Amino acid sequence: MKLPYKEFGTGKPLILIHAFPLSSSMWEPNIDELTKIGCKLFLPDMRGFGENINFADINLVEDMAGDVAELIETLGIERSIIGGLSMGGYITFNLYRLHPEKFSAMILCDTNFSNDSIESKQKRLELIDEIEALGNKALIEKMLPNLISDSTKIKNKTLVSELINEFKEVEPQSAIAALRGMAERIDHSNILDKINVPTLLVFGESDKITNLEIATEMNSKIPNSKLNIIKDAGHYSNLEKPTEFNSVLTNFINNL
Ligand code: MLT
Repeated sequence: MKLPYKEFGTGKPLILIHAFPLSSSMWEPNIDELTKIGCKLFLPDMRGFGENINFADINLVEDMAGDVAELIETLGIERSIIGGLSMGGYITFNLYRLHPEKFSAMILCDTNFSNDSIESKQKRLELIDEIEALGNKALIEKMLPNLISDSTKIKNKTLVSELINEFKEVEPQSAIAALRGMAERIDHSNILDKINVPTLLVFGESDKITNLEIATEMNSKIPNSKLNIIKDAGHYSNLEKPTEFNSVLTNFINNL
């Protein structure tokens, strides 16, 4: 599927894949700093989000990774730094499985290499039922509070209301399709020790969805990885602490 995407800057290609249930606009606080250091940013909208109005009953992570591979092919980019946050990270893992040769480096933010446990799958199915019944109210009331840190909730009310507005805009059926896809995603434990590009791991200190235990395991298994923990941030670390997030990314990219 042809992906709508935004492009900024000139220089080293850097593809960043957004989280659920957001869109490419989630990277807005990071664009200036990343283009200033000579990155050419490509920010796609995945199936059902942002300007991408196409989605099926279930949007498999593998298919979303295939869409990014198609975009890379169309753009004619040989190798790029590729990364994503949470769902974007799941997609990045799948893309590495499909096309490791397309990566010059990898950035994994607040994400997980493994598939859903039985319990997490159950919770996702419950959330789907709640969205069917209540619409986006379910996303806002059941999911959003777990995505940002307590500190963000108190100190950054503007971000909280922006996120509520973003969540309100999401087409409920596309959120359901992505949730079904994430529930079916595969486990990538068996490729962690085969990742042979420099890999940056960025995690919010208070991330309740993809926690520091996962981050530490990934850091111990990926050969050339570096873990950075962002203080006072939750799961949406790039939005909650953009200055710290930008400095970690620019430092990594400058040293490649
Ligand atoms: C995300 O931020 O993309 C989601 O929280 C991922 C998930 O629900 O597993």
